[in-house]
Amino acid sequence: MRKLKSGVYGLNPLLDGGINENSSTVVIGCSGAGKTTFATQFIRRGLEAGQEGIFVSLDENKEQIIKEAIEMGWKRIIDYIEEERLVFIDASGQEFSTFIKKELPGFVADWKGGANARISIDPLTPVMWSVTDRYEQRELIGFMLKETRKVGTVLATLEEHGTAGDLSGGEAVIPMYLADCVIHLRNFVDSEAGLQRRLKVMKCRNSRHSKMEHSYSIVKGLGLVVNPGESRAEPSRAFPERLKNMLDEHKGRIPARVHQRIIEVLEELRDEDFNDMSPEEVVEEIIQEYED
Ligand SMILES: Nc1ncnc2c1ncn2[C@@H]1O[C@H](COP(=O)(O)OP(=O)(O)OP(=O)(O)O)[C@@H](O)[C@H]1O
Ligand SMILES: [Mg+2]
Repeated sequence: MRKLKSGVYGLNPLLDGGINENSSTVVIGCSGAGKTTFATQFIRRGLEAGQEGIFVSLDENKEQIIKEAIEMGWKRIIDYIEEERLVFIDASGQEFSTFIKKELPGFVADWKGGANARISIDPLTPVMWSVTDRYEQRELIGFMLKETRKVGTVLATLEEHGTAGDLSGGEAVIPMYLADCVIHLRNFVDSEAGLQRRLKVMKCRNSRHSKMEHSYSIVKGLGLVVNPGESRAEPSRAFPERLKNMLDEHKGRIPARVHQRIIEVLEELRDEDFNDMSPEEVVEEIIQEYED
């Protein structure tokens, strides 16, 4: 799996190196959490790396987004637009279902740039609300992500309404299941420290991602800056190494091919991959599985 640098400082170590190429990521957060900034940073990083950028805005118009990007310290956005390396699809105020089913596939079919662009969709929420039926919502979002992935790597934002942090129900569920990677931005006010911002990777397919909450800031000129904490540190491999030695000790009690397969994969594992079991318990369970 090829990893793309996300453009959000401090985030890559949380995602096992970055965002998977040609995948879809959903960034969920309340108003002011930094979703549009995130989406802009993602595109900007691609432009820096020579990729093309497509910004699909469903809420604010193109001028507004450019204005905000300049306010946040990204003046060069104008040059990228003039060079036609950054394209805007302004769907604000349109009938979304027609836009997604007709105009978007038309754009994708006409796209000459291959599958190496970065696409930001900001925000996905009005698309969800354009249809009431859950099945239709799922179909529409799924279709939109599938179409846009044809031209590159997709990042869509989603507004979080209601109780902050409760993503188990409501409208976040459909995009969360459909996306390859889900990032949650949580903001709250601490009586002493004031506004606090926390980022959590809810899922990231094919990647060993951080399971922790990380604090982040929004800084002019930089955008979101995440504190990676322990994610930067060299991981401990004491558990898989102990497991390997124990498996070797009990070699005769496990089929040779199984033994070989597990030994091979242990090379990639770390302590954090095992929850509350000891190496002794894991070996015991493997032996039990194959004992008559
Ligand atoms: N020039 C700036 N310098 C520092 N922080 C800024 C600046 N401009 C905006 N911010 C911060 O970024 C936040 C807005 O970020 P952004 O617009 O990306 O949020 P959003 O999640 O897209 O919000 P919405 O749901 O309302 O669209 C502001 O609430 C503010 O805290
Ligand atoms: Mg926004």
